[in-house]
Amino acid sequence: MCRSRRRSSSSARSGAEIEASRNGKRGMVLPFDQHSITFDDIIYSVDMPQEMKSQGVIEDKLVLLKGVSGAFRPGVHTALMGVSGAGKTTLMDVLAGRKTGGYIEGNITISGFPKNQETFARISGYCEQNDIHSPHVTVYESLLYSAWLRLSSEVDSETRKVGI
Ligand SMILES: Nc1ncnc2c1ncn2[C@@H]1O[C@H](COP(=O)(O)OP(=O)(O)O)[C@@H](O)[C@H]1O
Ligand SMILES: [Mg+2]
Repeated sequence: MCRSRRRSSSSARSGAEIEASRNGKRGMVLPFDQHSITFDDIIYSVDMPQEMKSQGVIEDKLVLLKGVSGAFRPGVHTALMGVSGAGKTTLMDVLAGRKTGGYIEGNITISGFPKNQETFARISGYCEQNDIHSPHVTVYESLLYSAWLRLSSEVDSETRKVGI
């Protein structure tokens, strides 16, 4: 699902950059690693909306995801399907760390390691449902465009194509 891009800075060069300079290559090298993401028994709830309370609902929490498990693997194009309102976007937002409110339970791992949001945000890209998508580009082109926008302007067009 996600491809990692190690950050480079003048003070901390990545292993790939150092290796590239040893090999006599110049410029920035983008090392892409593929990772899997697994999620186990994800429960996501929010405080009960006032509108529902005023209609007589007595529970304090509204559970939107009830024990959802699965995995996204590199090279496997995965479709998440369900009727409108099933919770597809909610699940993707929870996995991507885009939920700012609510209560998340369960385990999320990245290639077997517990997900750390700070690291995950650096190595992954997420095109949201609410992003403005052009009907004239393919899904692949949309992802490519999003990924390229995240690269530094120092990265030349040839290097940008690495990892496609
Ligand atoms: N913050 C929230 N408070 C209350 N209900 C919510 C909240 N976020 C999502 N929902 C509800 O959760 C359900 C799942 O929504 P969503 O994930 O957008 O579905 P999908 O993407 O599958 O169409 C919907 O019924 C939606 O109204
Ligand atoms: Mg949706």
